[in-house]
Amino acid sequence: MRISIIGCGYVGLTTGLALAETGNQVVLVDVVEEKLRAVEEGRSPFYEPGVDEMILKHRSSGALSTTTDLGRAVEGSDITFIAVGTPSREDGSMDDTFIISAAKEIGDALKTKDGRHVVVMKSTVVPGTTWNTIRPLIEENSGRKAGPLLGIAMCPEFLREGAAMHDSLHPDRVVIGTMEDETFEVLDRLFAPLDSRILRTDPTTAEMIKYASNSLLATKISFANELSRICERVGVDVYDVMEGVGMDSRISPQFLRAGVGFGGSCFPKDVSALRYLAREKGVPTPILDGVMENNEIQPGHLVQVAERTMGGLKDVKALVLGLAFKPDTDDVRFTRSLPVARHLSSLGARVAGHDPKATENFRKEAPPEMSFFDDHEEGLSWADVVFLVTEWPEYAAIEWERYPNIRAIFDGRRTIEPASVKDIAYWSMGSPLPEP
Ligand code: UDX
Repeated sequence: MRISIIGCGYVGLTTGLALAETGNQVVLVDVVEEKLRAVEEGRSPFYEPGVDEMILKHRSSGALSTTTDLGRAVEGSDITFIAVGTPSREDGSMDDTFIISAAKEIGDALKTKDGRHVVVMKSTVVPGTTWNTIRPLIEENSGRKAGPLLGIAMCPEFLREGAAMHDSLHPDRVVIGTMEDETFEVLDRLFAPLDSRILRTDPTTAEMIKYASNSLLATKISFANELSRICERVGVDVYDVMEGVGMDSRISPQFLRAGVGFGGSCFPKDVSALRYLAREKGVPTPILDGVMENNEIQPGHLVQVAERTMGGLKDVKALVLGLAFKPDTDDVRFTRSLPVARHLSSLGARVAGHDPKATENFRKEAPPEMSFFDDHEEGLSWADVVFLVTEWPEYAAIEWERYPNIRAIFDGRRTIEPASVKDIAYWSMGSPLPEP
């Protein structure tokens, strides 16, 4: 099938590559020429394992092309995916600027196009958006009604950054939210080669499934984090507790890793948008409120334990290891390293950071006095105290005995094997609190 994808970010690019891999002709559209140029040159516009190789493969097979001309891309395709950003506004509501302009332009392009066209919403949007906002805009601008000539669907994306290519090719499930049988059949055929479970529903339920999934995963993490603070006081280890809890097949061990909290482009934004929607509808959300509140406690808690253990952090050389919101990405959106760095700074510590991929992105937000090391070994030779905030594999392999200058390590991600640190004080979040 001929596919156009509006938006060349994580979702758009990896969806496009997965569809190219399964035998379709894909054109990627973006307003940012730099992103398209990267794809033309055979590289990903962002760091993501496996994406460069797939781009090269499908650029040379001819299955993947790029353009800034949305109209021509829509005209030359049968299905258009909207995969543009839906960031949070200051008040937590969803910013729909990009999806609205994409919908209008798609509608305009359809005015002169013959035959049936399907438009699929891939961006995460507040329940009701595809059917109540996007459909009317496309209808108005194209002059066609949803039905035989215009298919409308909402297919949420569940990929994880750092594993985006794998998740796009092997999703746990594909949710197809549409009111029309014909649209369902086309998309069912399109996704069949992914060999995953397919759920048919309506667009608004599909949108709610995405918010509900992300909110429940975020809830599991915040629950583990709250439990971890209790375990620390009781003198037991939350990882031992969660091992036992996760053995219950009704619960599963996933997303129960306690630590410095969740970050990224999805959990904070989607939980906030769902809370905002609930507020608008007059529905109280004590669970979702608590999920966010609890997530904000963790970075300060890590620093507070350090402050208490060290008897203050003034002028202490504090190295933050890991600036990306998780390993295998250069994404720093809502990274927990930022509140950790800010807390350290406010207590008078001399703060430095290291990340294998994300330093440049982090720099823009960092406290002005924070410095950065390109090489983590140099940072380790400089530091008095280490805060581990992102579990890059190279940090797990550090030979700590080479750094006698380091007095203590505070592990926010349960990354370091305690046996590998002999003469350094070591504390990992969720384990019994250290003696001051
Ligand atoms: C998430 C969802 O997993 C994905 O389905 C959705 O499409 C987008 O949001 P992502 O944000 O890429 O994906 O990363 P994920 O691996 O889910 O981790 C999110 C954050 O939670 C990270 O900061 C991670 O460190 C943290 N986390 C995750 C925990 O603190 N504990 C856990 O047990 C799991």
